[in-house]
Amino acid sequence: MRALVIGASGGIGSAISQQLQRDRWDVTGLSRSVDGFDVANAASVERGMTLQSGTFDLIFVAVGILAPLGGAPEKALSAIKPDDMARVLAVNTIGPALILRHAARLLPKDKRGVVATLSARVGSIGDNKIGGWHSYRASKAALNQIVHGAAIELGRSHKQSVCVSLHPGTVETSFTQNYAGRHKTVPATEAASNLLAVIEKLTPEHSGGFYDYAGQEVVW
Ligand SMILES: NC(=O)c1ccc[n+]([C@@H]2O[C@H](COP(=O)([O-])OP(=O)(O)OC[C@H]3O[C@@H](n4cnc5c(N)ncnc54)[C@H](OP(=O)(O)O)[C@@H]3O)[C@@H](O)[C@H]2O)c1
Repeated sequence: MRALVIGASGGIGSAISQQLQRDRWDVTGLSRSVDGFDVANAASVERGMTLQSGTFDLIFVAVGILAPLGGAPEKALSAIKPDDMARVLAVNTIGPALILRHAARLLPKDKRGVVATLSARVGSIGDNKIGGWHSYRASKAALNQIVHGAAIELGRSHKQSVCVSLHPGTVETSFTQNYAGRHKTVPATEAASNLLAVIEKLTPEHSGGFYDYAGQEVVW
């Protein structure tokens, strides 16, 4: 089995890569810090994705930022800075969309192939009871829409494809260092095994959906 893990340098991306390798998958990792694969740069995504050949049983997109380097998610509307918001959208929404442009070519047509993109429960509009984190929430809500649309499009040409957004839980990575708060956290290894267990059970009927680390559907 072949997997392409994008954001393989991250806390969750590296744990996913390692578990797949332990399970004897052939894993190709792509990341900004190791390969110069910058999702905020369309030419970089185009170059990195065009280099990939053959098909993958799993394309796992694990890139994302909570805020630009040195910044923080907004506590209130008054804290919104347009450049910071644009950066969060560029990495969390447009980057994965540019990757998804290549999904049809890289997924098998004659068997099941999964595209899983890390979203976040805080991107759920229905679940948003406390406000704040405007850019991050908006970037993940928009990502969910793109994943849903991609699933529809892929389903036409790749009947056995599964394309989903996943919420990993609150995971102990550099991402949550300052923000885990009162949430129960899990190590990245545990998050990876939870997510891979969910992915294993997904069928084409699940395609286009938003699921958490336990396989429960998350409200849009
Ligand atoms: N941790 C949590 O509790 C949690 C909860 C909900 C959702 N998520 C989502 O899970 C995903 C992964 O989070 P994580 O906890 O593993 O965070 P992390 O350890 O900070 O990893 C983030 C990854 O994103 C990559 N990245 C950032 N900017 C990039 C860019 N411009 N181009 C390419 N790659 C870029 C990083 O690559 P480099 O380091 O190589 O630059 C790294 O691989 C994110 O989408 C996040 O929103 C995490």
